[in-house]
Amino acid sequence: MKKLLLPIMAALIAAAPAAGAKDMARDAQLAALSKQAGKIIKGFAMTLKGTLTQEMKAKGPVAAINVCNHKAEQIARNFSFAGWTTGRTALKLRNTMQNTPDEWETAVLKMFEKKLAEGADPKTLTKAQIITENGRKVFRFMKAIPVGKPCLTCHGENIKPEVRDAIEALYPNDKATGFKLGQLRGAFTLTKVLDK
Ligand code: HEC
Repeated sequence: MKKLLLPIMAALIAAAPAAGAKDMARDAQLAALSKQAGKIIKGFAMTLKGTLTQEMKAKGPVAAINVCNHKAEQIARNFSFAGWTTGRTALKLRNTMQNTPDEWETAVLKMFEKKLAEGADPKTLTKAQIITENGRKVFRFMKAIPVGKPCLTCHGENIKPEVRDAIEALYPNDKATGFKLGQLRGAFTLTKVLDK
């Protein structure tokens, strides 16, 4: 084992100066921003899930659909602060008005699907990148959202007729059903403009 490690370490040390100070600074910036994004997502996800679970328990899935409809955007706005924009997106969409992915998000979602098909754990799938958008430097971050058991009530294969009806009334073009446990439902997506 030691014999194997030594040449690997030597190669790593040799590669380090070649990477350059600029790359290292950018990597550090990416890591710091990713950490911040992760914290925002944690709060956002907990608030969303808490609100949903509470409503499901108190009033059932049909009433909870209205909560998702009204509150999801509001909660996303509450977690958009200090230059950050926070939201959710997916390839198979329910709310096409608010959650349609842009080009970068579509590419990342497809990459997540590919990694998932190759056996990756959906909980670990993230993507962080600094890109130029309309002449501005922008940090973009996405984290995969896997389908969990409570999600199947409204996104699964066997949705109760009254739940189905309530969803269709609000989202006539809904594509976000037929999911199985562990599949990719979508992703959290965060943006921060770095310079103007
Ligand atoms: C009570 C029904 C209900 C349950 C349960 C539910 N959702 Fe949803 N979901 C909705 C509705 C309604 C929307 C559209 C909300 C909106 O307008 O943003 C939605 C939207 C989404 C979106 C945004 C992308 C899109 O298609 O518009 C994601 C991602 C999502 N749900 C994931 C989940 C996950 C993960 C779970 C399980 C933890 C879950 N949902 C449980 C009803 C539900």
